[in-house]
Formats: sequence, C-alpha cells, structure tokens
Amino acid sequence: MMSAKLFDAARQRGLVMIKERMSRTFKTKKGVTVRIRPLLPSDTPHLVDIFEHMSADSRYSRFYQPLDHVAPERVWREAEAIAHTPQQVGFIAFADLPGQPDAPVGAARYVCTGDDVAEAAVSVRDDMQGQGVGTQLLALLAEEARARDVHKLTALVQNSNKAIVRVLNRMPYQYERTAVGADIELALDLTALKQRQG
Ligand SMILES: CC(C)(COP(=O)(O)OP(=O)(O)OC[C@H]1O[C@@H](n2cnc3c(N)ncnc32)[C@H](O)[C@@H]1OP(=O)(O)O)[C@@H](O)C(=O)NCCC(=O)NCCS
Repeated sequence: MMSAKLFDAARQRGLVMIKERMSRTFKTKKGVTVRIRPLLPSDTPHLVDIFEHMSADSRYSRFYQPLDHVAPERVWREAEAIAHTPQQVGFIAFADLPGQPDAPVGAARYVCTGDDVAEAAVSVRDDMQGQGVGTQLLALLAEEARARDVHKLTALVQNSNKAIVRVLNRMPYQYERTAVGADIELALDLTALKQRQG
C-alpha cells in the first residue's frame, strides 16, 4: 500500500501538472506579455474591472442586454455570481498595462448544460481586443473541456459578431452555426479536428 507521504507527493505532483496544464503565458503582437490562469472565486474584483473596460457594444455582445448605465452594486453582484458559479471551468488573463500593472484583461468560462455539452462565454476588454487574448483563452478552455470529456462548446451570439467567428476560425476544431431567430448558435465540436489543407 502507498504510504501517506508517497500519496501526498503524488497528489502534489498531480496538482502541479494540472496547474501547468491550466496556465499559459504568451506575448501579443504588440509585445505585451499576457498571463492566463484558472478563474477563482476570489476573482470578483477582476471580473468587475474587465467589465468596466468594455464598451456598451462589447457588453451587449457578451451579456445580451444593454448595460451601458448599470449600478456598481449590480455589476459586483453579477461578477460575484460568475466567479462563484459551481461546476464551471474558467480562465482569466492578466497583463501589465501602462498605469495598471497586473491588469485583468479577459476571461472565459464554460458551464455544463448536458452530459458532454457546455455553454461557453469569453470577454476581452476593448483596449486589448484584436491581439490574440480571446483566441488563447478559448483555446485553453477547449483543451480543458476535452480533458474533462466535454465534447461540444456552444455559444449564442449576435449575427454581427465577427470577432468571435474569427476566433473560432483559429481553433483546430470544426464548428456548426445554427440560426436562432436573428442570432446564431455556434457549436464547437471538440471531437472533430479540422481537415488540414494541402
Ligand atoms: C469576441 C472577443 C472575445 C474576441 O477576443 P479578441 O481578444 O479580440 O480576439 P483575438 O484577438 O484572438 O482575435 C481573433 C480575430 O478576431 C479579430 N477581431 C478582434 N476584434 C474584432 C472586431 N471587433 N471586429 C472584427 N474582428 C475582430 C482579430 O483581428 C483576429 O482576426 P485575425 O484572425 O484575422 O487576426 C472580443 O472581441 C470580445 O470580448 N467581444 C465582446 C464579448 C463577446 O462578443 N463575446 C463572445 C460571445 S460570448
């Protein structure tokens, strides 16, 4: 039988491996270093900060409701609810920005909606969009989902949301688009790798 000491060491090694799998650092085109780590319940203030740096359009794209004038208490409550959601997997990205070291710049998460299906959401603060943060967050989320036997990640988005479609185009997986009224549901199939061209 494994001794308590050996068991502890194995557990610790396992935790370190999971931590490594779930963290990533990369440099944007503009040379900004972005650090991604798992989302924690203590990240409420960071989620509020990201929200405060999103335009009305970005907020609408993410939350599907006009949120340009919203009471700070409500923002805090919603962020707290997201940070504390049970059964979710999430990631948060940080970067050293001028005047704001270690600034939270984006977050992504999924919540299981079926045995092997989960609903995903991602947001990046406006001044950090278009630099690959959304792509890295979604890639990590998809990897983690696969490791946990989630086969499909879905998201309901506006038809006009070109950015999320471009992010999906960068993923190695196939995806389907289904019209839902004026919107589209995107479903990333984590079991179907894209065919390589050529
Ligand atoms: C969607 C979103 C997360 C993408 O994040 P991002 O960090 O900007 O994405 P990336 O930098 O990885 O960009 C991927 C591609 O989208 C492009 N892109 C980024 N913002 C764009 C925009 N507003 N319009 C068109 N294309 C855009 C990038 O140029 C890049 O294109 P490329 O592949 O040709 O180089 C971000 O735009 C966002 O937070 N939007 C508001 C919330 C939202 O719509 N969430 C999705 C629904 S839950």
